[in-house]
Amino acid sequence: MSDFKDKVEKRRTFAIISHPDAGKTTLTEKFLLYGGAIQEAGMVKGKQRMRHAVSDWMEIEKQRGISVTSSVLQFNYQGYCINILDTPGHQDFSEDTYRTLMAADSAVMVIDASKGVEAQTRKLFKVCAMRHIPIFTFINKLDRDAKDPYELMEEIEAELGVETCAVNWPIGAGKQFKGVYERATKKVLTFEAVDGYKKEVTENVYHVDDEALKNVIDEDQYATLMDDVELLDGAGAQFDIVKIHEGKQSPVCFGSALTNFGVEPFLQHFLDFSMPPQPRMSDHGMIDPFSEDFSAFVFKIQANMNSRHRDRMAFMRITSGKFEKGMEVYHVQGGKKIKLNQSKQLMADDREEITEAYSGDVIGVFDPGIFSIGDTLTTSKEKFAFEGIPTFAPEHFASIRNKDTMKRKQFVKGISQIAQEGAIQIFTAIGGSFEDIVVGVVGVLQFEVLAYRLKNEYNVEIENTPLPYQFIRWIDNKDIDLNSLNLSSDTRKVQDLRGNNLLLFSNQWGINWATERNKGLELSEFSKNA
Ligand code: G4P
Repeated sequence: MSDFKDKVEKRRTFAIISHPDAGKTTLTEKFLLYGGAIQEAGMVKGKQRMRHAVSDWMEIEKQRGISVTSSVLQFNYQGYCINILDTPGHQDFSEDTYRTLMAADSAVMVIDASKGVEAQTRKLFKVCAMRHIPIFTFINKLDRDAKDPYELMEEIEAELGVETCAVNWPIGAGKQFKGVYERATKKVLTFEAVDGYKKEVTENVYHVDDEALKNVIDEDQYATLMDDVELLDGAGAQFDIVKIHEGKQSPVCFGSALTNFGVEPFLQHFLDFSMPPQPRMSDHGMIDPFSEDFSAFVFKIQANMNSRHRDRMAFMRITSGKFEKGMEVYHVQGGKKIKLNQSKQLMADDREEITEAYSGDVIGVFDPGIFSIGDTLTTSKEKFAFEGIPTFAPEHFASIRNKDTMKRKQFVKGISQIAQEGAIQIFTAIGGSFEDIVVGVVGVLQFEVLAYRLKNEYNVEIENTPLPYQFIRWIDNKDIDLNSLNLSSDTRKVQDLRGNNLLLFSNQWGINWATERNKGLELSEFSKNA
Protein backbone atom coordinates (compact mmCIF):
# COMPACT_ATOMS: atom_id res chain seq x y z
CA MET A 1 0.00 0.00 0.00
CA SER A 2 1.30 3.45 -0.79
CA ASP A 3 2.28 5.66 2.10
CA PHE A 4 -0.62 7.99 1.30
CA LYS A 5 -3.21 5.20 1.27
CA ASP A 6 -1.81 3.76 4.46
CA LYS A 7 -2.08 7.13 6.19
CA VAL A 8 -5.74 7.50 5.19
CA GLU A 9 -6.53 3.87 6.04
CA LYS A 10 -5.19 4.43 9.54
CA ARG A 11 -7.25 7.54 10.26
CA ARG A 12 -10.25 7.52 12.53
CA THR A 13 -12.34 10.64 13.09
CA PHE A 14 -15.05 10.59 15.69
CA ALA A 15 -17.12 12.95 17.80
CA ILE A 16 -17.98 12.32 21.42
CA ILE A 17 -21.62 12.81 22.24
CA SER A 18 -22.95 12.92 25.77
CA HIS A 19 -24.94 14.88 28.24
CA PRO A 20 -22.88 17.32 30.37
CA ASP A 21 -21.11 15.55 33.24
CA ALA A 22 -21.39 12.06 31.80
CA GLY A 23 -17.59 11.99 31.59
CA LYS A 24 -16.70 13.10 28.06
CA THR A 25 -13.76 15.24 29.14
CA THR A 26 -12.43 12.55 31.45
CA LEU A 27 -12.71 9.87 28.78
CA THR A 28 -11.01 12.10 26.20
CA GLU A 29 -8.18 12.67 28.60
CA LYS A 30 -7.79 8.97 29.20
CA PHE A 31 -7.65 8.33 25.47
CA LEU A 32 -4.82 10.84 25.28
CA LEU A 33 -3.12 9.08 28.16
CA TYR A 34 -3.29 5.72 26.38
CA GLY A 35 -2.17 7.34 23.17
CA GLY A 36 0.89 8.74 24.93
CA ALA A 37 -0.11 12.31 24.03
CA ILE A 38 -0.02 13.11 27.74
CA GLN A 39 2.05 11.26 30.35
CA GLU A 40 -0.20 11.51 33.32
CA ALA A 41 -3.89 12.12 33.80
CA GLY A 42 -4.34 15.46 35.46
CA MET A 43 -1.76 17.18 33.29
CA VAL A 44 -4.27 18.80 31.03
CA LYS A 45 -7.10 17.94 33.28
CA GLY A 46 -9.88 19.84 34.92
CA LYS A 47 -12.31 21.02 32.31
CA GLN A 48 -11.09 24.58 32.57
CA ARG A 49 -7.42 23.74 32.32
CA MET A 50 -7.90 21.36 29.49
CA ARG A 51 -9.64 24.01 27.47
CA HIS A 52 -6.79 26.38 28.13
CA ALA A 53 -4.37 23.81 26.96
CA VAL A 54 -6.07 23.05 23.72
CA SER A 55 -6.76 26.52 22.57
CA ASP A 56 -5.24 29.82 23.40
CA TRP A 57 -7.56 31.73 21.13
CA MET A 58 -10.45 30.63 23.27
CA GLU A 59 -8.86 32.66 26.01
CA ILE A 60 -9.91 35.79 24.17
CA GLU A 61 -13.44 34.58 24.11
CA LYS A 62 -13.28 33.59 27.74
CA GLN A 63 -12.25 37.08 28.72
CA ARG A 64 -15.31 38.32 26.99
CA GLY A 65 -17.31 35.71 28.82
CA ILE A 66 -18.24 33.84 25.72
CA SER A 67 -17.00 30.68 24.17
CA VAL A 68 -18.27 29.39 20.89
CA THR A 69 -15.69 26.88 19.94
CA SER A 70 -15.50 23.19 19.44
CA SER A 71 -12.05 21.78 19.16
CA VAL A 72 -10.25 18.90 17.57
CA LEU A 73 -7.68 16.74 19.24
CA GLN A 74 -5.39 14.36 17.44
CA PHE A 75 -3.40 11.50 18.92
CA ASN A 76 -1.77 8.28 17.81
CA TYR A 77 -2.53 4.86 19.16
CA GLN A 78 -1.27 1.52 17.88
CA GLY A 79 -0.39 2.92 14.50
CA TYR A 80 -3.72 4.75 14.12
CA CYS A 81 -4.06 8.50 13.89
CA ILE A 82 -7.19 9.42 15.78
CA ASN A 83 -9.08 12.70 15.58
CA ILE A 84 -11.53 13.48 18.36
CA LEU A 85 -14.00 16.21 17.61
CA ASP A 86 -15.28 17.81 20.76
CA THR A 87 -18.95 18.67 20.82
CA PRO A 88 -19.39 21.51 23.28
CA GLY A 89 -22.03 21.10 25.91
CA HIS A 90 -23.17 23.14 28.89
CA GLN A 91 -23.82 26.73 27.91
CA ASP A 92 -21.51 26.38 24.90
CA PHE A 93 -24.10 24.21 23.20
CA SER A 94 -24.81 25.72 19.82
CA GLU A 95 -25.44 24.88 16.21
CA ASP A 96 -21.70 24.25 15.94
CA THR A 97 -22.19 21.28 18.20
CA TYR A 98 -24.46 19.74 15.59
CA ARG A 99 -22.30 20.78 12.65
CA THR A 100 -19.28 19.14 14.22
CA LEU A 101 -21.14 15.86 13.90
CA MET A 102 -21.20 16.41 10.12
CA ALA A 103 -17.40 16.20 10.11
CA ALA A 104 -17.17 12.92 12.01
CA ASP A 105 -17.17 9.41 10.57
CA SER A 106 -18.50 7.92 13.78
CA ALA A 107 -19.55 8.87 17.27
CA VAL A 108 -18.68 7.71 20.73
CA MET A 109 -21.67 8.00 23.02
CA VAL A 110 -20.83 8.34 26.71
CA ILE A 111 -23.61 7.44 29.10
CA ASP A 112 -23.58 7.88 32.86
CA ALA A 113 -24.41 4.46 34.29
CA SER A 114 -26.47 5.93 37.10
CA LYS A 115 -28.47 8.26 34.86
CA GLY A 116 -28.95 6.48 31.56
CA VAL A 117 -29.98 8.36 28.41
CA GLU A 118 -30.22 12.13 29.04
CA ALA A 119 -31.59 15.06 27.06
CA GLN A 120 -28.48 16.28 25.25
CA THR A 121 -27.44 12.77 24.30
CA ARG A 122 -30.86 12.29 22.77
CA LYS A 123 -30.52 15.46 20.64
CA LEU A 124 -27.02 14.63 19.43
CA PHE A 125 -27.91 11.02 18.77
CA LYS A 126 -30.74 12.13 16.50
CA VAL A 127 -28.27 14.01 14.28
CA CYS A 128 -25.90 11.01 14.16
CA ALA A 129 -28.82 8.74 13.30
CA MET A 130 -29.79 11.07 10.45
CA ARG A 131 -26.33 10.44 8.98
CA HIS A 132 -26.37 6.69 9.73
CA ILE A 133 -22.90 6.82 11.22
CA PRO A 134 -21.65 4.11 13.58
CA ILE A 135 -22.22 4.90 17.25
CA PHE A 136 -20.05 3.28 19.91
CA THR A 137 -21.48 3.31 23.40
CA PHE A 138 -19.37 3.63 26.52
CA ILE A 139 -21.33 3.22 29.72
CA ASN A 140 -19.31 5.18 32.22
CA LYS A 141 -18.99 5.58 35.98
CA LEU A 142 -19.32 1.88 36.80
CA ASP A 143 -17.19 2.65 39.86
CA ARG A 144 -20.29 4.27 41.33
CA ASP A 145 -23.74 2.94 41.98
CA ALA A 146 -25.09 2.10 38.58
CA LYS A 147 -28.37 1.09 37.03
CA ASP A 148 -28.62 -2.53 36.03
CA PRO A 149 -26.67 -3.06 32.76
CA TYR A 150 -29.64 -4.75 31.07
CA GLU A 151 -31.86 -1.88 32.04
CA LEU A 152 -29.35 0.58 30.56
CA MET A 153 -29.20 -1.29 27.28
CA GLU A 154 -32.97 -1.51 27.10
CA GLU A 155 -33.23 2.19 27.82
CA ILE A 156 -30.87 2.99 24.94
CA GLU A 157 -32.90 0.80 22.61
CA ALA A 158 -36.24 2.22 23.69
CA GLU A 159 -35.21 5.88 23.87
CA LEU A 160 -32.92 6.07 20.87
CA GLY A 161 -34.32 3.37 18.65
CA VAL A 162 -31.02 1.62 18.04
CA GLU A 163 -30.23 -2.02 18.68
CA THR A 164 -27.51 -2.60 21.27
CA CYS A 165 -25.01 -5.40 21.54
CA ALA A 166 -22.83 -5.77 24.63
CA VAL A 167 -19.23 -6.32 23.57
CA ASN A 168 -18.15 -6.68 27.16
CA TRP A 169 -20.00 -6.94 30.43
CA PRO A 170 -19.27 -5.39 33.82
CA ILE A 171 -18.40 -7.50 36.83
CA GLY A 172 -19.91 -5.68 39.77
CA ALA A 173 -20.49 -1.97 40.16
CA GLY A 174 -19.52 0.73 42.63
CA LYS A 175 -16.73 -0.32 44.94
CA GLN A 176 -17.27 -3.88 43.78
CA PHE A 177 -16.53 -3.05 40.12
CA LYS A 178 -13.79 -5.55 39.42
CA GLY A 179 -13.47 -5.71 35.69
CA VAL A 180 -15.16 -6.63 32.44
CA TYR A 181 -15.88 -9.88 30.69
CA GLU A 182 -15.00 -9.87 27.00
CA ARG A 183 -17.68 -11.80 25.17
CA ALA A 184 -15.78 -12.63 21.98
CA THR A 185 -12.72 -14.08 23.70
CA LYS A 186 -14.42 -15.28 26.91
CA LYS A 187 -11.73 -13.49 28.86
CA VAL A 188 -12.09 -11.56 32.04
CA LEU A 189 -10.07 -8.37 32.38
CA THR A 190 -9.59 -7.18 35.91
CA PHE A 191 -8.03 -3.85 36.70
CA GLU A 192 -5.74 -2.45 39.33
CA ALA A 193 -5.28 1.25 39.82
CA VAL A 194 -1.80 2.69 39.37
CA ASP A 195 -0.73 5.91 41.03
CA GLY A 196 -4.21 7.00 42.04
CA TYR A 197 -5.60 6.49 38.51
CA LYS A 198 -3.20 8.96 36.96
CA LYS A 199 -1.46 6.28 34.91
CA GLU A 200 -2.77 3.52 32.73
CA VAL A 201 -4.24 0.75 34.88
CA THR A 202 -2.67 -2.65 35.20
CA GLU A 203 -4.84 -5.17 33.44
CA ASN A 204 -4.94 -8.84 34.43
CA VAL A 205 -6.38 -11.29 31.95
CA TYR A 206 -8.01 -14.57 32.87
CA HIS A 207 -9.97 -17.07 30.88
CA VAL A 208 -13.43 -17.27 32.33
CA ASP A 209 -12.80 -20.94 33.33
CA ASP A 210 -9.46 -20.14 34.95
CA GLU A 211 -9.44 -21.17 38.62
CA ALA A 212 -7.23 -18.19 39.49
CA LEU A 213 -10.11 -15.87 38.57
CA LYS A 214 -11.90 -17.00 41.71
CA ASN A 215 -9.19 -15.34 43.77
CA VAL A 216 -10.05 -12.02 42.16
CA ILE A 217 -13.83 -12.01 42.01
CA ASP A 218 -15.94 -13.59 44.70
CA GLU A 219 -18.29 -16.51 44.26
CA ASP A 220 -21.43 -14.44 44.01
CA GLN A 221 -19.96 -12.20 41.34
CA TYR A 222 -18.80 -15.23 39.42
CA ALA A 223 -22.24 -16.83 39.60
CA THR A 224 -23.92 -13.60 38.49
CA LEU A 225 -21.49 -13.28 35.61
CA MET A 226 -22.22 -16.83 34.46
CA ASP A 227 -25.97 -16.14 34.56
CA ASP A 228 -25.55 -12.86 32.72
CA VAL A 229 -23.40 -14.43 30.03
CA GLU A 230 -25.94 -17.17 29.47
CA LEU A 231 -28.75 -14.67 29.22
CA LEU A 232 -26.79 -12.40 26.87
CA ASP A 233 -25.78 -15.25 24.59
CA GLY A 234 -29.33 -16.55 24.55
CA ALA A 235 -31.44 -13.43 24.34
CA GLY A 236 -29.15 -10.54 23.38
CA ALA A 237 -28.78 -9.21 19.83
CA GLN A 238 -26.17 -10.94 17.71
CA PHE A 239 -23.08 -8.86 17.09
CA ASP A 240 -23.36 -7.62 13.50
CA ILE A 241 -20.55 -5.53 12.02
CA VAL A 242 -22.62 -4.54 8.99
CA LYS A 243 -25.36 -3.18 11.21
CA ILE A 244 -22.74 -1.37 13.28
CA HIS A 245 -21.33 0.31 10.20
CA GLU A 246 -24.82 1.36 9.12
CA GLY A 247 -25.53 2.83 12.55
CA LYS A 248 -28.27 0.26 13.19
CA GLN A 249 -26.54 -1.49 16.05
CA SER A 250 -24.43 0.14 18.74
CA PRO A 251 -21.70 -1.95 20.35
CA VAL A 252 -21.71 -1.31 24.09
CA CYS A 253 -18.72 -1.34 26.44
CA PHE A 254 -18.68 -0.71 30.17
CA GLY A 255 -16.11 1.04 32.31
CA SER A 256 -15.04 3.94 34.41
CA ALA A 257 -13.17 6.81 32.79
CA LEU A 258 -12.15 8.18 36.16
CA THR A 259 -10.41 5.00 37.31
CA ASN A 260 -9.34 4.03 33.75
CA PHE A 261 -11.15 0.72 34.14
CA GLY A 262 -12.30 -0.50 30.75
CA VAL A 263 -11.02 2.52 28.83
CA GLU A 264 -8.35 0.74 26.85
CA PRO A 265 -10.58 -2.23 25.93
CA PHE A 266 -13.14 0.27 24.68
CA LEU A 267 -10.55 2.12 22.60
CA GLN A 268 -9.35 -1.19 21.22
CA HIS A 269 -12.88 -2.26 20.26
CA PHE A 270 -13.50 1.12 18.72
CA LEU A 271 -10.48 0.60 16.47
CA ASP A 272 -11.53 -2.97 15.67
CA PHE A 273 -15.01 -1.97 14.55
CA SER A 274 -14.71 1.59 13.25
CA MET A 275 -14.01 2.51 9.66
CA PRO A 276 -11.42 4.70 7.95
CA PRO A 277 -12.60 8.01 6.43
CA GLN A 278 -15.78 7.46 4.48
CA PRO A 279 -16.83 8.68 1.01
CA ARG A 280 -18.94 11.85 0.87
CA MET A 281 -21.72 12.69 -1.52
CA SER A 282 -21.20 15.56 -3.96
CA ASP A 283 -23.05 16.85 -6.99
CA HIS A 284 -20.66 14.67 -9.05
CA GLY A 285 -21.38 11.52 -7.04
CA MET A 286 -19.44 9.98 -4.17
CA ILE A 287 -15.96 11.35 -3.52
CA ASP A 288 -13.45 8.66 -2.66
CA PRO A 289 -11.45 9.51 0.49
CA PHE A 290 -8.47 7.64 -0.96
CA SER A 291 -8.38 9.78 -4.10
CA GLU A 292 -5.17 11.81 -4.23
CA ASP A 293 -6.94 15.00 -5.27
CA PHE A 294 -7.43 17.19 -2.24
CA SER A 295 -10.96 18.08 -1.22
CA ALA A 296 -12.57 19.41 1.95
CA PHE A 297 -15.72 21.06 3.18
CA VAL A 298 -16.16 23.84 5.70
CA PHE A 299 -18.24 22.86 8.71
CA LYS A 300 -17.50 25.65 11.12
CA ILE A 301 -16.47 29.27 10.95
CA GLN A 302 -15.05 30.94 13.97
CA ALA A 303 -14.92 34.67 13.96
CA ASN A 304 -12.60 37.21 15.42
CA MET A 305 -9.76 35.35 16.90
CA ASN A 306 -8.13 38.74 16.73
CA SER A 307 -10.68 41.44 17.41
CA ARG A 308 -8.59 44.13 15.71
CA HIS A 309 -8.50 42.35 12.38
CA ARG A 310 -11.95 40.88 12.20
CA ASP A 311 -10.33 37.73 10.90
CA ARG A 312 -11.97 34.39 10.87
CA MET A 313 -10.93 30.79 10.96
CA ALA A 314 -12.68 28.25 8.75
CA PHE A 315 -12.61 24.69 10.02
CA MET A 316 -12.74 22.09 7.33
CA ARG A 317 -12.89 18.37 7.19
CA ILE A 318 -10.54 16.90 4.60
CA THR A 319 -12.52 14.45 2.52
CA SER A 320 -9.82 13.24 0.10
CA GLY A 321 -6.17 13.70 -0.69
CA LYS A 322 -3.48 15.48 1.23
CA PHE A 323 -3.28 19.03 2.50
CA GLU A 324 0.02 20.87 2.27
CA LYS A 325 0.62 24.24 3.80
CA GLY A 326 0.17 27.11 1.37
CA MET A 327 -1.36 24.87 -1.30
CA GLU A 328 -3.56 26.34 -3.98
CA VAL A 329 -7.09 24.99 -4.16
CA TYR A 330 -10.27 25.83 -5.98
CA HIS A 331 -13.00 27.32 -3.82
CA VAL A 332 -16.08 26.05 -5.62
CA GLN A 333 -18.71 28.41 -4.20
CA GLY A 334 -16.42 31.43 -4.62
CA GLY A 335 -15.48 30.34 -8.15
CA LYS A 336 -11.82 31.16 -7.49
CA LYS A 337 -8.45 29.64 -6.80
CA ILE A 338 -7.13 30.45 -3.34
CA LYS A 339 -4.13 29.69 -1.20
CA LEU A 340 -4.74 27.93 2.09
CA ASN A 341 -2.72 29.73 4.68
CA GLN A 342 -2.16 29.69 8.40
CA SER A 343 -3.40 26.19 8.82
CA LYS A 344 -3.92 25.16 12.39
CA GLN A 345 -4.59 21.85 13.94
CA LEU A 346 -5.18 21.25 17.58
CA MET A 347 -2.83 18.68 18.98
CA ALA A 348 -3.30 17.20 22.41
CA ASP A 349 -1.53 19.93 24.28
CA ASP A 350 -0.85 22.67 21.84
CA ARG A 351 -2.15 24.49 18.84
CA GLU A 352 0.30 23.96 16.08
CA GLU A 353 0.75 25.25 12.63
CA ILE A 354 0.60 22.19 10.47
CA THR A 355 2.35 21.54 7.24
CA GLU A 356 0.42 18.51 6.08
CA ALA A 357 -2.81 16.70 6.84
CA TYR A 358 -4.75 13.86 5.25
CA SER A 359 -8.20 12.76 4.32
CA GLY A 360 -10.06 12.32 7.61
CA ASP A 361 -8.29 15.19 9.40
CA VAL A 362 -9.75 18.53 10.37
CA ILE A 363 -7.82 21.73 9.83
CA GLY A 364 -8.52 25.35 10.53
CA VAL A 365 -7.41 27.85 7.89
CA PHE A 366 -7.36 31.60 7.83
CA ASP A 367 -10.55 32.94 6.29
CA PRO A 368 -10.46 36.45 4.85
CA GLY A 369 -14.26 36.43 4.92
CA ILE A 370 -14.88 34.34 1.82
CA PHE A 371 -16.12 31.04 3.23
CA SER A 372 -19.58 29.91 4.23
CA ILE A 373 -20.63 26.81 6.09
CA GLY A 374 -20.75 23.87 3.68
CA ASP A 375 -18.34 25.32 1.07
CA THR A 376 -16.17 22.92 -0.92
CA LEU A 377 -12.47 23.25 -1.69
CA THR A 378 -10.69 20.96 -4.08
CA THR A 379 -7.75 20.47 -6.40
CA SER A 380 -9.74 18.07 -8.56
CA LYS A 381 -10.36 18.99 -12.20
CA GLU A 382 -14.00 18.21 -11.63
CA LYS A 383 -15.21 21.17 -9.66
CA PHE A 384 -17.68 19.28 -7.55
CA ALA A 385 -19.56 20.64 -4.55
CA PHE A 386 -20.32 18.55 -1.49
CA GLU A 387 -23.86 18.16 -0.24
CA GLY A 388 -24.76 21.08 1.98
CA ILE A 389 -24.74 20.94 5.74
CA PRO A 390 -28.29 20.99 7.05
CA THR A 391 -29.52 23.95 9.05
CA PHE A 392 -30.56 22.70 12.46
CA ALA A 393 -33.69 23.81 14.21
CA PRO A 394 -32.99 26.63 16.68
CA GLU A 395 -34.42 26.15 20.14
CA HIS A 396 -34.50 29.71 21.46
CA PHE A 397 -36.02 32.72 19.76
CA ALA A 398 -35.98 36.45 20.30
CA SER A 399 -37.24 39.50 18.52
CA ILE A 400 -34.26 41.71 17.76
CA ARG A 401 -34.61 45.44 17.25
CA ASN A 402 -31.97 47.92 16.25
CA LYS A 403 -31.99 50.71 18.87
CA ASP A 404 -30.72 53.44 16.58
CA THR A 405 -32.68 53.52 13.33
CA MET A 406 -29.98 55.70 11.77
CA LYS A 407 -27.69 52.67 11.82
CA ARG A 408 -29.96 50.44 9.79
CA LYS A 409 -27.31 49.68 7.21
CA GLN A 410 -24.70 48.52 9.74
CA PHE A 411 -27.36 46.51 11.54
CA VAL A 412 -28.44 44.64 8.42
CA LYS A 413 -24.84 44.08 7.36
CA GLY A 414 -23.71 42.88 10.79
CA ILE A 415 -26.57 40.59 11.49
CA SER A 416 -26.48 39.12 7.98
CA GLN A 417 -22.75 38.48 8.23
CA ILE A 418 -23.06 36.80 11.61
CA ALA A 419 -25.90 34.68 10.28
CA GLN A 420 -23.73 33.73 7.28
CA GLU A 421 -21.08 32.44 9.66
CA GLY A 422 -23.78 30.21 11.07
CA ALA A 423 -23.78 31.51 14.65
CA ILE A 424 -27.42 32.56 14.50
CA GLN A 425 -30.38 32.14 12.17
CA ILE A 426 -32.48 35.05 11.04
CA PHE A 427 -36.15 34.88 10.21
CA THR A 428 -38.15 37.68 8.72
CA ALA A 429 -41.83 38.13 8.08
CA ILE A 430 -42.94 36.61 4.77
CA GLY A 431 -41.68 39.06 2.18
CA GLY A 432 -38.28 39.47 3.78
CA SER A 433 -38.41 42.82 5.57
CA PHE A 434 -35.65 43.46 8.10
CA GLU A 435 -37.83 45.71 10.25
CA ASP A 436 -39.19 42.96 12.40
CA ILE A 437 -36.78 40.10 12.66
CA VAL A 438 -36.72 36.98 14.74
CA VAL A 439 -33.37 35.49 15.63
CA GLY A 440 -33.20 31.78 16.41
CA VAL A 441 -30.29 30.08 18.14
CA VAL A 442 -29.52 26.56 19.22
CA GLY A 443 -27.66 27.66 22.38
CA VAL A 444 -28.94 30.60 24.37
CA LEU A 445 -25.43 32.01 24.78
CA GLN A 446 -25.49 32.93 21.10
CA PHE A 447 -27.74 35.89 21.92
CA GLU A 448 -24.98 37.35 24.05
CA VAL A 449 -22.45 36.66 21.33
CA LEU A 450 -24.71 38.47 18.85
CA ALA A 451 -25.16 41.57 21.01
CA TYR A 452 -21.45 41.67 21.82
CA ARG A 453 -20.34 41.35 18.24
CA LEU A 454 -22.83 43.82 16.82
CA LYS A 455 -21.67 46.38 19.34
CA ASN A 456 -17.94 45.76 18.97
CA GLU A 457 -17.66 45.10 15.29
CA TYR A 458 -20.51 47.09 13.81
CA ASN A 459 -21.16 49.70 16.52
CA VAL A 460 -24.81 48.76 16.68
CA GLU A 461 -26.84 48.32 19.83
CA ILE A 462 -29.79 46.00 19.88
CA GLU A 463 -32.77 45.31 22.02
CA ASN A 464 -33.59 41.68 22.58
CA THR A 465 -37.08 40.50 23.53
CA PRO A 466 -37.35 36.77 24.18
CA LEU A 467 -40.16 35.05 22.28
CA PRO A 468 -42.04 32.04 23.61
CA TYR A 469 -41.49 29.83 20.57
CA GLN A 470 -40.01 26.44 21.22
CA PHE A 471 -40.20 24.64 17.92
CA ILE A 472 -39.51 25.54 14.33
CA ARG A 473 -40.40 23.56 11.27
CA TRP A 474 -39.44 24.12 7.66
CA ILE A 475 -42.33 23.77 5.23
CA ASP A 476 -41.24 21.27 2.61
CA ASN A 477 -44.18 21.83 0.24
CA LYS A 478 -42.95 24.19 -2.45
CA ASP A 479 -46.27 25.25 -3.95
CA ILE A 480 -48.28 25.93 -0.85
CA ASP A 481 -50.54 28.92 -0.32
CA LEU A 482 -49.43 30.19 3.08
CA ASN A 483 -52.58 32.24 3.54
CA SER A 484 -54.74 29.16 3.32
CA LEU A 485 -53.02 27.36 6.21
CA ASN A 486 -55.15 26.67 9.23
CA LEU A 487 -52.88 27.39 12.21
CA SER A 488 -53.30 27.96 15.93
CA SER A 489 -53.32 31.65 16.90
CA ASP A 490 -49.86 31.47 18.49
CA THR A 491 -48.17 29.98 15.42
CA ARG A 492 -46.11 32.41 13.36
CA LYS A 493 -45.20 32.25 9.68
CA VAL A 494 -41.70 33.41 8.79
CA GLN A 495 -39.05 32.89 6.16
CA ASP A 496 -35.31 32.32 6.37
CA LEU A 497 -32.63 34.19 4.45
CA ARG A 498 -32.85 31.74 1.57
CA GLY A 499 -36.55 32.42 1.22
CA ASN A 500 -37.70 29.09 2.66
CA ASN A 501 -40.99 29.22 4.52
CA LEU A 502 -41.18 28.15 8.15
CA LEU A 503 -43.53 27.97 11.07
CA LEU A 504 -42.72 28.90 14.66
CA PHE A 505 -44.64 27.05 17.34
CA SER A 506 -44.95 27.67 21.06
CA ASN A 507 -45.65 24.04 21.84
CA GLN A 508 -46.16 20.58 20.45
CA TRP A 509 -49.88 21.16 20.46
CA GLY A 510 -49.45 23.84 17.78
CA ILE A 511 -47.51 21.41 15.59
CA ASN A 512 -50.24 18.80 15.96
CA TRP A 513 -52.85 21.41 15.06
CA ALA A 514 -50.94 22.33 11.90
CA THR A 515 -50.39 18.77 10.70
CA GLU A 516 -53.89 17.56 11.55
CA ARG A 517 -55.77 20.45 9.96
CA ASN A 518 -53.65 20.89 6.85
CA LYS A 519 -53.61 17.59 5.02
CA GLY A 520 -50.50 17.14 2.92
CA LEU A 521 -48.51 19.76 4.84
CA GLU A 522 -44.93 18.49 5.15
CA LEU A 523 -42.84 19.86 7.97
CA SER A 524 -39.22 19.04 8.78
CA GLU A 525 -36.78 19.75 11.58
CA PHE A 526 -33.83 20.39 9.26
CA SER A 527 -33.60 22.70 6.31
CA LYS A 528 -32.96 20.55 3.27
CA ASN A 529 -32.07 23.54 1.11
CA ALA A 530 -28.77 24.20 2.81
P1 G4P B 1 -18.26 16.07 30.72
O1 G4P B 1 -17.02 16.45 29.98
O2 G4P B 1 -19.05 15.00 30.06
O3 G4P B 1 -19.10 17.21 31.14
O4 G4P B 1 -17.81 15.36 32.10
P2 G4P B 1 -16.42 15.32 32.87
O5 G4P B 1 -15.46 14.41 32.20
O6 G4P B 1 -15.95 16.69 33.18
O7 G4P B 1 -16.91 14.60 34.20
C1 G4P B 1 -17.90 15.16 35.04
C2 G4P B 1 -17.66 14.71 36.45
O8 G4P B 1 -17.78 13.29 36.53
C3 G4P B 1 -16.27 15.05 36.96
O9 G4P B 1 -16.35 15.26 38.35
C4 G4P B 1 -15.50 13.77 36.70
O10 G4P B 1 -14.38 13.62 37.55
C5 G4P B 1 -16.57 12.74 37.01
N1 G4P B 1 -16.33 11.47 36.31
C6 G4P B 1 -16.02 11.25 35.02
N2 G4P B 1 -15.89 9.94 34.77
C7 G4P B 1 -16.13 9.31 35.94
C8 G4P B 1 -16.14 7.94 36.33
O11 G4P B 1 -15.88 7.04 35.55
N3 G4P B 1 -16.45 7.70 37.62
C9 G4P B 1 -16.71 8.67 38.52
N4 G4P B 1 -16.98 8.31 39.76
N5 G4P B 1 -16.71 9.97 38.20
C10 G4P B 1 -16.42 10.29 36.91
P3 G4P B 1 -16.40 16.70 38.98
O12 G4P B 1 -16.25 16.52 40.44
O13 G4P B 1 -17.60 17.40 38.48
O14 G4P B 1 -15.19 17.44 38.31
P4 G4P B 1 -13.64 17.34 38.63
O15 G4P B 1 -13.43 18.40 39.64
O16 G4P B 1 -13.37 15.96 39.15
O17 G4P B 1 -12.99 17.62 37.32
